[in-house]
Amino acid sequence: MIDLKIDYSNTLGFIKQQEILDFQEQISNHYSSLKSKSGLGNDFLGWIDLPSEMDDELINRIEKLATKIRGKSDIFVVVGIGGSYLGARAVIEALGNSFSHLDRKKGNPVIVYAGQNISEDYMVELLNVLDNNDYSLTIISKSGTTTEPAVSFRILKNHLEEKYGKEEAKTRIIAITDKERGALKQLAEEEGYESFIVPDDVGGRYSVLTPVGLLPIAIAGFNIRKLLDGAIKMKKHIESSPNIGNNPVSTYAAVRNALYNAGKTIEITVNYEPKLYYITEWWKQLYGESEGKENKGIFPAGVGFTTDLHSMGQYIQDGLRNIFETVISVEKPNSKLKVPMDNKNLDGLNYIAGKSLHEVNHKAETGTTLAHVDGGVPNLRIIIPNISEDSLGQLIYFYEMGCAISGYLLGVNPFDQPGVEAYKKNMFALLGKSGFEKETEAIYKRL
Ligand code: PA5
Repeated sequence: MIDLKIDYSNTLGFIKQQEILDFQEQISNHYSSLKSKSGLGNDFLGWIDLPSEMDDELINRIEKLATKIRGKSDIFVVVGIGGSYLGARAVIEALGNSFSHLDRKKGNPVIVYAGQNISEDYMVELLNVLDNNDYSLTIISKSGTTTEPAVSFRILKNHLEEKYGKEEAKTRIIAITDKERGALKQLAEEEGYESFIVPDDVGGRYSVLTPVGLLPIAIAGFNIRKLLDGAIKMKKHIESSPNIGNNPVSTYAAVRNALYNAGKTIEITVNYEPKLYYITEWWKQLYGESEGKENKGIFPAGVGFTTDLHSMGQYIQDGLRNIFETVISVEKPNSKLKVPMDNKNLDGLNYIAGKSLHEVNHKAETGTTLAHVDGGVPNLRIIIPNISEDSLGQLIYFYEMGCAISGYLLGVNPFDQPGVEAYKKNMFALLGKSGFEKETEAIYKRL
């Protein structure tokens, strides 16, 4: 049984129920084409069966290695970009203690990230920290040729070898890459790094439930079996009925496409739990890279409330009316804390004394939703019972399948990303990469 629920009642002042239901036939057809692998991008559908077909041996291997790495690392560096780091970061930050970097416990490495930018300051600051701490790392790149992680890995590999010597360094590097292609595969083989494979038919942004996400999540100390179980529950539920109303994925895909057709071209994912910040970042990549093509697509944005009510709140309430909000609403916190009574009551807060912070947060959520709906912003709610491995597993699979169905409704291939190449071509030309001579000449003429 899934616990994730969806509430779209606050969109119905903007779109008609019938406009949502009109998508049913198309949605049912899209499930069929996903199943028969006959739709656009059908080479990249391996993510559909990942959770249910996960090999127990692979999970055991990940768990064993995680125990070993946890035993000898104060810090674990995840080197990757886009789909090769966002899923792991989303789950690790959601499940972790917000202050774990200040409250470090032996055997529980702090997870840090590299290769997701090319900033010199970022890298030097990281190296300074790594000078004084035991660490290990994973380099994750499906293609094995992406510039940002490749540059960071080259620097970190040198640092690791200088710090521990070549032989020990090899035991602290884990490569996660394509089965056959790419420089990283060759390097991993030559150096004898422990390595894992990203399946050919799973694209980067759909890869969180492969070793790409599972290994860092296990090293951070979380239960990857429960995460997979949550995803399996969602998968089974989706397979039991394609019907809008019973199936939250169908509902989400239909409602957001009906809103898009009504001119709501920006979807803002909202959380009231700062730990979910990277869930939104992961969702932004998944939906942005999957849907934004052929001059189409809902623009995925994100805010964290109530923090951003004091920045973006004004725009959302009163700005251009082309947005809708999807709140990830968490029913129960994992901790307990009440607002204390104060005899002097100089701050005037005794009217909420005795209430839990979660209750106050929840009232803020309800009040904000109503205000934004009154201001012309349709509101969807994705409700999860708590932040746990199980509920995140459900949420991940919900969003992945929602993205596939939504992309198909939009008429695009949700599994490719041709637009990402344009900046790379210019960067290579500017850096003088061999093979880009013509582009180099042309680009310098423009500058
Ligand atoms: O979703 C995608 O395919 C991309 O975001 C990739 O994950 C990202 O570009 C990194 O690619 P790679 O893993 O090949 O280094």
